[in-house]
Amino acid sequence: MNVATTQTVGRLVPLGVATIPGTEPRPDVRIINHFNSQEAAARYAGNRPQSHRRVLALVESILGAALPVERALDVGCGTGHSTVALLPLARAVVGLDSSRFMLAQAGGDPAIEYRCGYAEALPFARSSFDLLTVCSAYHWFDQEKFLQEAARVLRGGGWLVLYKVGSTGRIADNAQFDTWKREVFRTRYPKAQRNDAVLTEERAVGFGFHDVAREGLTHCVRHTLDEYVDNLLTHSSLIGAMDRQQESVAETRLWLHRELRPFFDQGSAEFLHDDWIHLLGRDLSVSDGNA
Ligand SMILES: C[S@@+](CC[C@H](N)C(=O)[O-])C[C@H]1O[C@@H](n2cnc3c(N)ncnc32)[C@H](O)[C@@H]1O
Repeated sequence: MNVATTQTVGRLVPLGVATIPGTEPRPDVRIINHFNSQEAAARYAGNRPQSHRRVLALVESILGAALPVERALDVGCGTGHSTVALLPLARAVVGLDSSRFMLAQAGGDPAIEYRCGYAEALPFARSSFDLLTVCSAYHWFDQEKFLQEAARVLRGGGWLVLYKVGSTGRIADNAQFDTWKREVFRTRYPKAQRNDAVLTEERAVGFGFHDVAREGLTHCVRHTLDEYVDNLLTHSSLIGAMDRQQESVAETRLWLHRELRPFFDQGSAEFLHDDWIHLLGRDLSVSDGNA
């Protein structure tokens, strides 16, 4: 079933059925987890924008009466921003991440159980979840192994939600910012190696999933210069440069302030952030006892 949902939630601007940005699968890519340090985790917890609730509200509007489910799992949960946002959708919520540093920053909400582990070897029994979400982390996984694991731990008839909340963004009607981002920012801080492959409908079928909805959404947020700089310091490309000792956090912050100041002439600037969701259904199968 393909559902083309368009709906305005808060300041979300529906774009209709979107093509999720991405590349072809890249088995050669060498992925490093840039979120595996205390400093990176602390900056992430405090400074990464959190629009997860608004994006998950779209999932709620699609799944409607099927919610709340009994058990939901958030894989690559980081410091818990996406896990807390999942609470209204399930009676019990588990967050899993491979970085102990990120998990150490997750709040102590008694309704959430946090576990350390890998997306490619989920430490849970077959059919033990009704809903599995991944926010802004799928591109870090070995996707083949993760999809096998997702199919195993989800019950037949359950759902998988891959989604991304945009956090760098663009300034409306400001081509100079786009040029700066492309030619100055990305030259200094190239994107870390990752696997941006889109999960096609054909590929998903091979793992026992079918498409329910794909949606692109844009949300609008006003950031001060300080907020925006602190947000950029949570990004893998900048953490990578700092990890490689190319520069210190203070030097990076100074450079960003100097470069970005002209775009914040009012002290703040309105950014458009592009988000997307890909909602899939887990097929019913005899082995789950659901057929
Ligand atoms: C950009 S953060 C997203 C965190 C959170 N979902 C959010 O929306 O704020 C990506 C997270 O994926 C985790 N991660 C990367 N590779 C992983 C893997 N193979 N298994 C589990 N977690 C992984 C990182 O440790 C990091 O916390």
